[in-house]
Amino acid sequence: MVSSPMVIVLVGPPGSGKGTQAKALCERFGIPQISTGDMLRAAKKAGTLDQKLLEMMDKGGLVPDDVVIALIDGRIDAADARPGFLLDGFPRTVPQAEALASLLSRRSRDLDAVVQLDVPRHLLEERLIHRRTDKRTGQIYHLVYSPPPPGADLEHRADDRPEAVGKRLDAYEEMTAALLPYYQAKGLLRRVEGVGKPEEVTARVLAALGA
Ligand code: AP5
Repeated sequence: MVSSPMVIVLVGPPGSGKGTQAKALCERFGIPQISTGDMLRAAKKAGTLDQKLLEMMDKGGLVPDDVVIALIDGRIDAADARPGFLLDGFPRTVPQAEALASLLSRRSRDLDAVVQLDVPRHLLEERLIHRRTDKRTGQIYHLVYSPPPPGADLEHRADDRPEAVGKRLDAYEEMTAALLPYYQAKGLLRRVEGVGKPEEVTARVLAALGA
């Protein structure tokens, strides 16, 4: 558990292991994972996601900034986020980063660190196409590297189809090109090599955070 409030942002391309690392880090620090992707998928499951947004997501595009900013605004005041929180997949653009700065400043909170997971593109494609998620627990598996147990109720994300994967990787490169220098200039960016066993990556992230 952390003794003082901690706000961390995890950035990285699709498939870089944000969800996998977020779970390990949140358990370690006793803070919630706030994933805009998970929130959008929950809205999709509940049937409350606008049809246009649903199509944007499934095809691998980003949803508009105001949609994800509103999601974060409505989530970070929850009681479980008082000791801190880890943002997974938000912000992805400079306007989102500026909105986050203003949401935090209104609450007199600070952003402690932005951890970027670096993984080469050919590994990302391979990771995404073989990813499966347990429908009930949200546990993330890889059909080769961390295979699911027999009988698991698995789901294959619509945006993990090969035709959507390339588009997501392109969108990440375009949209975050300015985001990383933005955080670099603020002295918040910590780059971490995301290749290796998930536990090894977690150890690198903890070292980068000085934890
Ligand atoms: P989101 O859910 O955030 O997806 P993403 O960024 O594309 O990231 P992923 O969840 O695909 O990958 P990950 O980095 O979490 O990797 P994982 O740990 O699962 O967003 C989905 C969509 O929502 C977006 O495309 C967009 O439409 C919308 N959206 C969300 N946020 C938005 C925002 N802020 N603005 C606008 N739109 C937004 O790992 C992947 C695989 O690799 C798994 O199979 C895993 O088992 C395996 N793996 C993990 N670590 C390792 C390792 N070390 N070695 C080998 N395999 C590994």
